[in-house]
Amino acid sequence: MNQTINGKTKVLGLIGNPVEHTLSPIIHNSLSKELGINCVYVPFHVPHGELDKAIAGGKSLNLQGLNVTVPYKVDVMDFLIEITPFAEQIGAVNTLKFTDNGYIGYNTDAEGLGMSLKKNEIELRNSDVVIIGAGGAAKAVAVLCAKEKVSSITIINRTLSKAEQLSDNIKKFYDLPINVIGYDQVNQLQEFDIAFQTTSIGMSPDIHKNPVEDEAFYKKFHSAVDLIYNPEKTLFLKKAETNGAKIVNGFEMLYYQGVRAFEIWNNLLIDEKILDKVFLQLLEYKKNK
Ligand code: ATR
Repeated sequence: MNQTINGKTKVLGLIGNPVEHTLSPIIHNSLSKELGINCVYVPFHVPHGELDKAIAGGKSLNLQGLNVTVPYKVDVMDFLIEITPFAEQIGAVNTLKFTDNGYIGYNTDAEGLGMSLKKNEIELRNSDVVIIGAGGAAKAVAVLCAKEKVSSITIINRTLSKAEQLSDNIKKFYDLPINVIGYDQVNQLQEFDIAFQTTSIGMSPDIHKNPVEDEAFYKKFHSAVDLIYNPEKTLFLKKAETNGAKIVNGFEMLYYQGVRAFEIWNNLLIDEKILDKVFLQLLEYKKNK
């Protein structure tokens, strides 16, 4: 946050329910302080059934940018004047940018994951990837993978029909092989490159849970990405690491989705040195919380 809030301060924020535990204000207010931009980012708790009023109110109040979180990432799409093709393909929007006519919707969750993978030198292009789960988070992962030209996607899910739906949706926009399997077929998987864990299984407090029990699975890939960041190392990541894989949790994805939103709102690209500095501040904040 800037030292001084004055008449020219640009207001940004987060709409969701709940929003009380969000780290986004720390990300955005640290970035604006570091870059000397006169803006402030605040959380807005939006009651159920009042999303339309919140969006209209945001426009009337001249809120220049909004992030959108659970449970509104899909519903918010009804209230926008434009949605980027990438967000449209994912079917969810997490970032709104103000224009005189209304808000434009973006999806920086997937972009943030892409930035996190780059940072960790995990290459999607020509990789064979496995995605565990077929919910909203899996959708963002799958669209990113397809856009970045992976060689193939295999989706593992408890409910096969949901995985089939996700596969059909990707195939509407991209031409690549997509397989769908249940957890009972995991032992039939050949070697592949990257495993993405997108379910909530293993999240604190259920840290002893793990979606894939087959031990041989963890020997079949070189990189594992778990979208969970609490705990820092899920049982899934621990097993992958023990078997020699590079591991990445969801914390950088969270950070970089914020970074991308900030860049979109302020029409800029932030220098990597500043990004690394603010990331360290965020880690420090999280550690002391
Ligand atoms: P999100 O938007 O966070 O991805 P979601 O849309 O509710 O959340 O999706 C949750 C994912 O976790 C789904 O793939 C779900 O599997 P189903 O499609 O079969 O429901 C998966 N998941 C959640 N709890 C699970 C459990 N106990 N066992 C297996 N899969 C589970």
